[in-house]
Amino acid sequence: MNKPDKQGQRARFNTKIGVIATTVGSAVGLGNIWRFPYEAGSNGGGAFMLCYIMFIFIIGVPVICAEFIMGRGTRSNILGAYRKLSRGKWYIAGFMGIAASVAILSFYSVVAGWICEYFVQSVRGELMLASSSEYHEAFDQFSTGNWRPVVWTLIFLSLNFLILVRGVTKGIERMSNILMPLLFILLMIFCVNSLTLSGASEGLAFLFNPDFSKITPRVLLSAMGQAFFSLSLGLGCMTTYASYFGNKTRLGRTAITTASLDTLVAVLAGVIIFPAVFSFGISPQAGPTLVFEVLPAIFNSLPGGVVWSSLFFFLLILASLTSTISMSEISIAFMTEELKMKRRTATIVNTLIAMALGSLCALSFGALSGFTIFGMTIFNFFDYLASNILLPIGGMIASVFVGWVVDRRFIRNQLTANGSIKFRAYSLILFCLRYVAPAGIALVFLNSIGIIS
Ligand code: TRP
Repeated sequence: MNKPDKQGQRARFNTKIGVIATTVGSAVGLGNIWRFPYEAGSNGGGAFMLCYIMFIFIIGVPVICAEFIMGRGTRSNILGAYRKLSRGKWYIAGFMGIAASVAILSFYSVVAGWICEYFVQSVRGELMLASSSEYHEAFDQFSTGNWRPVVWTLIFLSLNFLILVRGVTKGIERMSNILMPLLFILLMIFCVNSLTLSGASEGLAFLFNPDFSKITPRVLLSAMGQAFFSLSLGLGCMTTYASYFGNKTRLGRTAITTASLDTLVAVLAGVIIFPAVFSFGISPQAGPTLVFEVLPAIFNSLPGGVVWSSLFFFLLILASLTSTISMSEISIAFMTEELKMKRRTATIVNTLIAMALGSLCALSFGALSGFTIFGMTIFNFFDYLASNILLPIGGMIASVFVGWVVDRRFIRNQLTANGSIKFRAYSLILFCLRYVAPAGIALVFLNSIGIIS
């Protein structure tokens, strides 16, 4: 079943499972398995975890609902959604979302490229080294070398391109349906293994025992950024995907399911990584390279490690693709609908820009490592700017917009699928969108620039 919409030829996700699998497919990715552990490790473990989970449910879930309402209600790209719902200048936020999505796609593809390298190394049996310091050195040597990271970034973006030109429903839906559950099972197995390691209790305490004195403005800002990043929130990704939902899709339930599954995967990743960090004597504060030092060491300790690691890196490449597809879809939907470009042309433009910026990000570990913006390498700058600043701003605008500007009846109709289902949390969601989310985001910002403490 692949029915075109009455209003035109916009694609639709076909089944209930398809809707969940694609939104979860967008949310679950390197954000959970690469970014969450390193951010948690650098920001005090338990303190970060606590703030992160709080942000996911207090701010994240309402903002997902806002994005869903805008997308499904207007069946438009992010810019079109703002335009259809208000005559004001709100649509400018759409441009910010599009710019941020390309920035994220660029550095994300670099990390996905590293995963591709590790997949190949692991299939060739080259990933089995003797000690954790060797893993550190091996990764360092690879990521500071200039060619391979760039070439892998380009290869990954080409894969992304190939899936995107085939259109929305076919490519994404089929892939996510099969692979996300498989990745989940694999994570469960690694989790059980990590719990048997000698550093398990230390690792779990690090992750789950919050030291409240460590909740600093920086930790709050990073946890909020991570919540937005992990939920694919704040730049219109969920708006764009919701524009492909069916009319009967339950938006509230989909939001909760997406947030819960996404958080579960991040927690699983934490439970896999931190026991190993303490068992193998690796510093939790290693930063973006953390999981590339820890994961191979974990696989090495497993019987049949080559098979596990190859399968894992392969699934992680696919999980990354379901995320990068969703990021790319923001600008592709914009270019095809607002600028009337052909889908193919739009996809080429998106890919070429990401290839140019992605190469700069890849080189920022090697040849361009001395080039900094506000004291950060290009890679770190893109990540920091997009995740910690642009996403929360985008989320704040979406929640204020839906909470204060959009017609109440429109919101109610979306949340109740035109009155066909009950939605008890309506007032709660509206309250969060009007007050809690905007105030929460503003407080974290003001706090982090030192205006209030
Ligand atoms: N959420 C994805 C992850 O955790 C990344 C992602 C996909 C994203 N689409 C996005 C992040 C849109 C921000 C905005 O890997």
